[in-house]
Amino acid sequence: IKKIGVLTSGGDSPGMNAAIRSVVRACNYYGIVCCGIRMGYEGLINDYVVELGPRSVRNLINRGGTELKSARSQEFRTKEGREKAAKTVKKHNIDALVIIGGDGSFTGGTIFQKEHGVPFIGVPGTIDNDIFGTDYTVGYDTALNTAVDAIDKIRDTATSHNRVFFVEVMGRDAGFIALNSGIATGALDILIPEEKDSIEDLFIAFEKAQEKGKSSSIVIVAEGEKLGGVYDLAKFTKMKYPEFDVKVTVLGHIQRGGSPTVADRVLASRLGVAAVEGLIAGKSNVMAGMQSSKLVFTPIEEAIKKHNEIDKDLIKVADILST
Ligand code: F6P
Repeated sequence: IKKIGVLTSGGDSPGMNAAIRSVVRACNYYGIVCCGIRMGYEGLINDYVVELGPRSVRNLINRGGTELKSARSQEFRTKEGREKAAKTVKKHNIDALVIIGGDGSFTGGTIFQKEHGVPFIGVPGTIDNDIFGTDYTVGYDTALNTAVDAIDKIRDTATSHNRVFFVEVMGRDAGFIALNSGIATGALDILIPEEKDSIEDLFIAFEKAQEKGKSSSIVIVAEGEKLGGVYDLAKFTKMKYPEFDVKVTVLGHIQRGGSPTVADRVLASRLGVAAVEGLIAGKSNVMAGMQSSKLVFTPIEEAIKKHNEIDKDLIKVADILST
């Protein structure tokens, strides 16, 4: 392998920059030329390719977002788009790719590999932590800490005014941020897509809280929760308990930004080096991840198909501690 291309794709996550830096520096260490592809797969289609040396990634490890920029490319979903991308790969003599992103990005890489034979290794970068084959994804820890910091602040004002807050956190299909931030902030209830919640259960939680003389409550709701969304939940609660002072806060994209935590920087650094070493060793169509503190390569199709499962014990912990 003489040349590796690196790109970030899908929703950005804190620590992607640390992963880029790691890939670039590992390439340099092993005498491989590294190319950055800007704007994810859009950059492959439109030839946004820049050569990156070890100094071009200085002061990057601590920065949020992705210096290479990211995109959810629609054109790459088409055969024609991927043909254009293949021309760019050929033009720059890129031997293999490191794709930093989530399952959608890995699906794109797999189709591209099948059609045009470009080997790749995935580095899991998403705040959702929903990718199978790694205990944690790059960006999750930072997003979780950002959510907890924000919810702690909401707690202050909720207590001061005896209010009920519904706080929506990110997680389109996964409740990792919701469950863990809810436990960490002492939420009354936590609603996640993986669990069948009912409005009645939520009302029971309110009743119990009232019996105990609780005067304010926080309910954490994952974006992908299936009861109908944070505003509906607030509306139904207000209808049932007109005396409650109910507020809604949607944390939104604040969870995607910010300087990555130590855990995310170290994880990104390890996986970036692993991806380069994996490609040198002839691996392809795998994702680098950490499981029980060990580096593992998971076949990409498994990483896409299966999903990280929520720990049922942790759900029980949340239930025990909220009562
Ligand atoms: O996949 C990461 C994520 O932040 C999800 O939690 C969220 O649903 C989605 O991306 C939002 O994506 P976008 O920024 O494209 O609206």
